[in-house]
Amino acid sequence: MKAAVITGYGGNEVVEIRDMPRPEPGKGEVLIRVYGASINPVDWKIRNGMLRVLTGRKFPKILGSECAGEVVEIGDGVRRVKPGDRVIAHPGARRLGAYAEFACTGEGNVFPSPENLSFQESSPLPIAGLTALQALRDLGRIEAGRSVLINGASGGVGVFALQIARIFDAKTTAVCSSSNFDLVRDLGADRVIDYKKQDFILGDDRWDIVFDAVSKSSFAKAKRVLTPRGVYIATLPQPSTLINQYLTRFMTRKKARTIMVRPKLVDMNWMKFHIEAGRIRIVIDRNYPLEEIREAFAYSESGRAKGKIVLKTGEEETPREEYGKNGPPASGRVTD
Ligand SMILES: NC(=O)c1ccc[n+]([C@@H]2O[C@H](COP(=O)([O-])OP(=O)(O)OC[C@H]3O[C@@H](n4cnc5c(N)ncnc54)[C@H](OP(=O)(O)O)[C@@H]3O)[C@@H](O)[C@H]2O)c1
Repeated sequence: MKAAVITGYGGNEVVEIRDMPRPEPGKGEVLIRVYGASINPVDWKIRNGMLRVLTGRKFPKILGSECAGEVVEIGDGVRRVKPGDRVIAHPGARRLGAYAEFACTGEGNVFPSPENLSFQESSPLPIAGLTALQALRDLGRIEAGRSVLINGASGGVGVFALQIARIFDAKTTAVCSSSNFDLVRDLGADRVIDYKKQDFILGDDRWDIVFDAVSKSSFAKAKRVLTPRGVYIATLPQPSTLINQYLTRFMTRKKARTIMVRPKLVDMNWMKFHIEAGRIRIVIDRNYPLEEIREAFAYSESGRAKGKIVLKTGEEETPREEYGKNGPPASGRVTD
């Protein structure tokens, strides 16, 4: 099978398309014919060797943390999925293997795909989608009427965060450059701030949640613009935020938190439910064939993506019929 592999850590020069053996599903594992895969900043950080403690020194290594496609084979003991199911898979940063024609992972990392999405559209849900959901709901305790600022609202995580905040009826301020104002307003931003003209930490406004989706600020800077019980949430585990996270647990009412996404079925079903009801749309900025993975990484590394960058690893299907027009209510939790 065709796969995007690295033969050592480094820049884009270490990435190549190779013929690799097709994986075989072991006990409790699922083999997927991959049609779409998502690029996240973590993937080129892995390529660079920044996560080598987790990813080890065994090469060649097939890259890719998340993908979507059709189940072709299941190992002993797999109960929840069967061949032919349309699924999203999250092999994760430890196992990797998503940038290939076939990927294999444990059943616990395989989730049903929303009916109304193509595979390329559904592939970003475990990382970007759930980072936004878990940050706002679990760390930010988002509720109707609360004010939320999303820094980096036009990026892969930000475009989900805006739409999720709208589902919870929160008041949103999107921070991005003015060229992305139309996009973020379309996704539900009540207010917009151009970070190139105005620093949100300096104004008179206050927010209950500052979700720093691109981790360009810090708790130390942003605490000034938090309401008395406000929360600052970062996406990168920077030492200063981690120290403040520890200190603010006991000492202040304003809190610092860092999100570490954990893809799980109940949250993937929450996303599926709201996507099928038409409340969350997938914003794809660029779509590259697997062979152009270097170009896809270079674009992600530029930091200019508007929504998601995806890879096509097989013949794309026609997106399913629009679904759930009279779907369920606009808020609330969904369980599996
Ligand atoms: N902890 C976790 O579990 C977890 C999970 C997912 C992602 N992450 C991390 O979260 C970060 C964001 O991920 P992502 O996928 O959203 O990244 P991304 O898609 O690459 O973000 C690109 C966006 O960031 C905006 N941006 C760049 N500089 C900015 C600034 N100074 N202020 C405001 N916006 C700015 C850009 O807008 P302009 O073009 O207008 O500048 C662009 O739209 C990454 O560092 C990633 O590694 C962590």
